[in-house]
Amino acid sequence: MTETIDRLTIRRPDDWHLHLRDGAMMAAVAPESARHFARAIIMPNLVPPVVTAADAEAYRARILAALPPGSGFTPLMTLYLTEETDPEDVARAAASGLVTAVKLYPAGATTNSASGVRDFDRVRGVLERMAEIGLPLCVHGEVTDAEVDIFDREAVFIERVLEPIRRATPGLRVVLEHVTTAEGVAYVRAGGADIAATITAHHLVINRNHILAGGIRPHYYCLPVAKRETHRLALVEAATSGESPFFLGTDSAPHPDQAKLAPCGCAGCFTAPNALSVVAEVFEAAGALDRLEAFTSLNGPAFYRLPPNEARITLTKGAPVPYPARIETGAGPVTVFDPGFPLHWRVEA
Ligand code: DOR
Ligand code: ZN
Repeated sequence: MTETIDRLTIRRPDDWHLHLRDGAMMAAVAPESARHFARAIIMPNLVPPVVTAADAEAYRARILAALPPGSGFTPLMTLYLTEETDPEDVARAAASGLVTAVKLYPAGATTNSASGVRDFDRVRGVLERMAEIGLPLCVHGEVTDAEVDIFDREAVFIERVLEPIRRATPGLRVVLEHVTTAEGVAYVRAGGADIAATITAHHLVINRNHILAGGIRPHYYCLPVAKRETHRLALVEAATSGESPFFLGTDSAPHPDQAKLAPCGCAGCFTAPNALSVVAEVFEAAGALDRLEAFTSLNGPAFYRLPPNEARITLTKGAPVPYPARIETGAGPVTVFDPGFPLHWRVEA
């Protein structure tokens, strides 16, 4: 006899990788995350980026002002690592509790990454200081070399950049963000207590065919780009395993439709409204609903050495949940990620 579950109460989830943007866009998207998530690691790739503690403090104030009254949502701030980052500014920002992590973008890897790192030797001092104080480094794990195929950029990054950095900096705590490959999953699994990975909702459901077969679908284009099906299956297996180094980071990355639907469209999937419904559907299909809470609400705080949320949410299964196709923002309409199948799990926050 199989028991069907149609109601699930779990600790309130956190989003360990989120783009809130700024200004009119943030005003529209921040409430979408605050509805379901208690906390989020806020990506610093604004223009100009959030580089110093003072930048992070000002950005945090703008986020708090954009949230609906009483939302209780806590932005966990990050600093954008540059070759000029001052190790002591980082250490002070961490000690005061202002900053939860530092983000490494290889220069040119993705949206607004021009100020990122070209010469990894030039950030050695910051990484050593971070290792001393236990401050996590969130890594966009892709090389940017023109000669490396875009589908290989994560695996090559691990070998050529990440492993040498970790060897040179014992004790450095690393989150391999939005892991997209079986190689990435294997690397994290074998890497011990100082490495973890976030997995997005969209990478659990799309492979590269969804982007390219039968017509090009710009709303599925993100970075790292979705890989072939074997890799998607490795991600589902890792996420649904309940293993401690794997947790949800949506990488919800809104762009106005006019910037997505262009000859050179921006990378990013906007999943904040429906990420939890998508993830629940994936876990149910894998027979792993009993491990959903580990992925969305327990493994992340454990890695970041924060308490899990005391508040709970309830997910109920029923008729497909009518998420909007797009939301209106002051910066233009933003299309909501379409998983391509009905979402039966409703979040009762
Ligand atoms: O798809 C992506 N969008 N990947 C990133 O790494 C950045 C993000 C963005 O900021 O739009
Ligand atoms: Zn991101």
